Amino acid sequence: MFTTTLRPALLAASRSPRVEKTVTGMASTRKVVRRFVAGETEAQAGAATAALRESGRYVSIDYLGEDTTDIERARATVSHYLTLLDTLSELPGSTEAVRPLEVSLKLSALGQSLPRDGHAIALENAHKICTAAAAAGVWVTVDAEDHTTTDSTLAVVRALRADFPWVGTVLQAYLLRTEGDCRDLAGPGSRIRLCKGAYREPAGVAYQDRDEVDASYLRCLDILMRGQGYPMVATHDPVMLEAAAGYIRSARREPDRFEFQMLYGIRDEEQRRLVATGAHLRTYVPYGDQWYGYFMRRLAERPANLAFFLRSFGPGARR
Ligand code: FDA
Repeated sequence: MFTTTLRPALLAASRSPRVEKTVTGMASTRKVVRRFVAGETEAQAGAATAALRESGRYVSIDYLGEDTTDIERARATVSHYLTLLDTLSELPGSTEAVRPLEVSLKLSALGQSLPRDGHAIALENAHKICTAAAAAGVWVTVDAEDHTTTDSTLAVVRALRADFPWVGTVLQAYLLRTEGDCRDLAGPGSRIRLCKGAYREPAGVAYQDRDEVDASYLRCLDILMRGQGYPMVATHDPVMLEAAAGYIRSARREPDRFEFQMLYGIRDEEQRRLVATGAHLRTYVPYGDQWYGYFMRRLAERPANLAFFLRSFGPGARR
């Protein structure tokens, strides 16, 4: 019932301005949001980052926002990233080979969905952020959004990597094309974050069945681990994590040649356990006031997340 009915409904709602108005207007929502979102300001994102660094975790920070159709908003997003990078440049780690600090970008927040020249505008804006990130010793990874953006996103990443060879990208195992993309992109110097995929996609382009998505994830992971790049294993799934450990052993990868990644507020104990094994674990930390789409995708991922949200309306909600 969750996978077949609630999940698609929540993912559809994640793009509905009407539902957004209702959900973001509820006082009780904000408390739940804080479980998944580090705050609204650069100072709050910086504080969350410093705390995670103290526990040995690496961090990737995302200024929330997506599907921008206003060029001024895209410019404002660039300004937020520049302020964030200023804040991050004060934290240690900017000279290590594997950079402890990273920012994640959504190209649709940088103008990719603008009706005219969206691709070129997003590239120009991402280039500005990469220039500032290079000066701050911070890596950049470009997030993956819905499948209609994949070709444009991979082309932007290729262009950025000509000037900033450390720019990473995300591949989504639920897309039918991704095994091929993993083969194409697993070369020397690449940084690929492999995730299952969080959007609502049609059967023509994406596996619909969870088992098929998991099987695809494992095939993609195998390709990346046997490749020459730097795989970033983004999952909370114990089955995927155990399989990853096997691939890492057989590819004889040392800890500096891959990393695990998980989302802020999810499986905190497991994040700490992985750090204690000597592996690099990077926590993806979202912040900003445009948290609606991100928050709804988290609710759509797991019945327990939805139940946690619904409980916030119950009798004990104010405690
Ligand atoms: P999935 O949701 O399939 O859950 C499998 C199992 O994992 C569960 O049965 C449970 O055992 C365990 N589990 C999951 N959540 C848990 C929890 N809260 N507590 C306890 N156990 C839990 N997507 C995208 O489309 N584009 C992107 O750019 C990114 N970027 C990204 C970065 C990072 C760092 C991560 C971790 C994820 C993303 N994603 C993403 C999201 C990703 O595509 C996916 O939606 C989520 O990670 C959920 O999938 P999982 O692999 O975690 O397992």
